[in-house]
Amino acid sequence: MQTREKWGSRWTFIMAAAGSAVGLGNIWRFPYMAGQNGGGAFLMIYLAATFMIGFSIMLVELCLGRRVQLGAVSAFKKESKSWSFVGAMGLLAGLLILGFYPLIGGWSLAYVWKAFSGQLASSDAAVLGQVFTDFITGYEALGWMGLFMALNIVIVYGGVQAGIGRTSEICMPILFLLLFIIAIRSVTLEGAEEGLKFFLTPDFSKVTFKMILQGTGQAFFSLSLGMAIMVTYGSYLDRKERLPSTTAWIVGMDTLVGVLSGLAIIPAAFAFGMETGAGPSLVFITMPAVFFHMGSVGSVLCPLFFVLLALAALTSSISIYEGPVAYLQDERGIDRKKSVIPLGIFIVVLNVLSCLSLSSMSGVTLFGLTFFDVLDFMSDKVLLASGAVLLSIFAGWKIGKERMIKELTNDGEVNVPWAGMWFILIKYIAPAIVGGILVLGLIDAGNNAMAVTSFAVIALLALFSKKF
Ligand code: PHE
Repeated sequence: MQTREKWGSRWTFIMAAAGSAVGLGNIWRFPYMAGQNGGGAFLMIYLAATFMIGFSIMLVELCLGRRVQLGAVSAFKKESKSWSFVGAMGLLAGLLILGFYPLIGGWSLAYVWKAFSGQLASSDAAVLGQVFTDFITGYEALGWMGLFMALNIVIVYGGVQAGIGRTSEICMPILFLLLFIIAIRSVTLEGAEEGLKFFLTPDFSKVTFKMILQGTGQAFFSLSLGMAIMVTYGSYLDRKERLPSTTAWIVGMDTLVGVLSGLAIIPAAFAFGMETGAGPSLVFITMPAVFFHMGSVGSVLCPLFFVLLALAALTSSISIYEGPVAYLQDERGIDRKKSVIPLGIFIVVLNVLSCLSLSSMSGVTLFGLTFFDVLDFMSDKVLLASGAVLLSIFAGWKIGKERMIKELTNDGEVNVPWAGMWFILIKYIAPAIVGGILVLGLIDAGNNAMAVTSFAVIALLALFSKKF
């Protein structure tokens, strides 16, 4: 039997896992959600969800993967065949996310070029809005997605250390550096205080129920949880690795990038009197205008900002891609070299459909949702949270306290004073809270037909559990 691929070092692993976590979720999604949801209050909810629940669940995923040294599905299957569908759910969620994530990755790449070649040099949101709409509904976006996917294919083909590890080691420090520079420029702008206040001071009277749902959902998405990615990444870890401190690094970096992105975007937008509640277009429409206002410094920072966004997207999409590749290798004996390209082609097809659903195929809907929205609904609203609930039930009730704590502490070698508390959290509290959020989120979304369909898919996976 082949020996399992491994990360070259602890540092590589932390970079790769942080690379997975730090993505469009942090730089594109988090600032606009904070902008739409009252700033500081949203930040607090996000931080609370990250440190209480996110941290614990990430630790569970890493423990489960390292324990059996096998990817998503196998980590469950080794314990019990009837649980393997939870891993399969993770893979499915991953494929759904991969159905639109590279498209947005491609937008980021395109914007590097657009910013560099001066196509975004305007302070007029209407003009920039038109540039954005024309771009995402045109065929050009497909080409950039293709380029983004080509990068993914090359990296994942390269393998765990030489491909994913090396890429993350190079990209992550660059990303941090660029983000620091932009955040510092943003918070030192004249008139930035207002934005800083909005982003950093929580006004708890503004907290709504929806905000709690969105903040927790964001924490999950941002940490790449609920889809067994961290199980797969954990499976390439050495038995000697200390999981608690490693997890703290990953969660800390991910949160730092979210907060820094907020600092890079919100105060600058305030300083130039721009809207921060623009939603998904904040990064692509508002930010170029913000940079334009900064003058010559802005014209350098703008392309760099999109480089940063593209790097963040890349290190995340390769992590999702690795999930099915590991599965095919562990369970079907199909070598990485044989699976990467066909899978890549499949992902490209999904992204073409997602892209067209923003233009010529916008009329093709399922229960009122376009192709893009269906992927987003099923993954983000249903599968990630359900995956996290089932994962914690599996760890808490099926694997049990003794074996989980043994894995956490490397057989008692590492002293973890809060191990008992952690176990209570994953056995009782996490499933209850995440389960509650799942149900309330679906009620809030108000698309019963789509919710039922999503659960029917989960039921089908469970029914065929033994086949994975
Ligand atoms: N965490 C990534 C982000 O913040 C997205 C992601 C989700 C990656 C799930 C892998 C798995 O953009």
